[in-house]
Amino acid sequence: RKLRFPKDWIERKQQKEKISVLTCYDATSAVLVERAGVDAILVGDTMGMVLQGHSSTMPVKLDHIIYHGQCVRRGAPGTFLIVDMPFGTYHASVEQGVNNAMRLIQETEAQAVKLEGADEDTLKIIRKIVAGGAPVMGHIGFTPQSYLSLGGFRIQGKSNDAADALIEQAKALQSAGCFSIVLELMPTDVSRRISEAVQIPTIGIGAGIHCDGQVQVFQDLLGLLPDFAPKHARKYDQAAERWITAIGQYDNDVKSGSFPGPENSH
Ligand code: KIV
Ligand code: NA
Repeated sequence: RKLRFPKDWIERKQQKEKISVLTCYDATSAVLVERAGVDAILVGDTMGMVLQGHSSTMPVKLDHIIYHGQCVRRGAPGTFLIVDMPFGTYHASVEQGVNNAMRLIQETEAQAVKLEGADEDTLKIIRKIVAGGAPVMGHIGFTPQSYLSLGGFRIQGKSNDAADALIEQAKALQSAGCFSIVLELMPTDVSRRISEAVQIPTIGIGAGIHCDGQVQVFQDLLGLLPDFAPKHARKYDQAAERWITAIGQYDNDVKSGSFPGPENSH
């Protein structure tokens, strides 16, 4: 059954049916993702890396998420849409976080926002956003917006204490009203314990098989980045190689005079 409301996510977990989520940043790919029947689309701030070419997600601005969220919404009008709250848009105050979350929902017509972390301040903001009627997805484990303070792109929850802390964070996010939680880069056993400890679905990336669903980055899934292949992704296509070949054929055909042919001409 289609995911339309946060309650549908929780029912999926109760029925032990997995949830598929994929990132998307534009209308062309949104059309494809919706036709493929993926459960939900995330307009992730990974766009900073895969779309904008930065080395982290930190340069992404609220306006970027709004613009790309609107593009995706037009391409996939029938799919549950989650948009990321970017770095710096929810840490100054509860008021700032709530205002930006509501603006994202209003302007993109997404069904939910996602934000990183589970410290006291973030929990306060989540409670307020949820109380205002906007569903929130949590995100713990490796949180890319804090990669500088975390010391790089690293697996989280490796020690017993760190694993226990992640379980507590997941419970706190559930209590704050999150309808689901992304678990990023952690040992399979830790995400299993978290998934057993909460009733809301866990959506993993680099977190193993026991999560209630998975999220992947569009470009990773299709092999669109020629020089990047994270361990947590399975390449379902070698799009970079195939596209480079196709584009190269176009280049040759123009230069050899075989394109456009009569069938392309008026
Ligand atoms: O920005 C993003 O794409 C994400 C997912 C990787 C979970 O946050
Ligand atoms: Na993100």
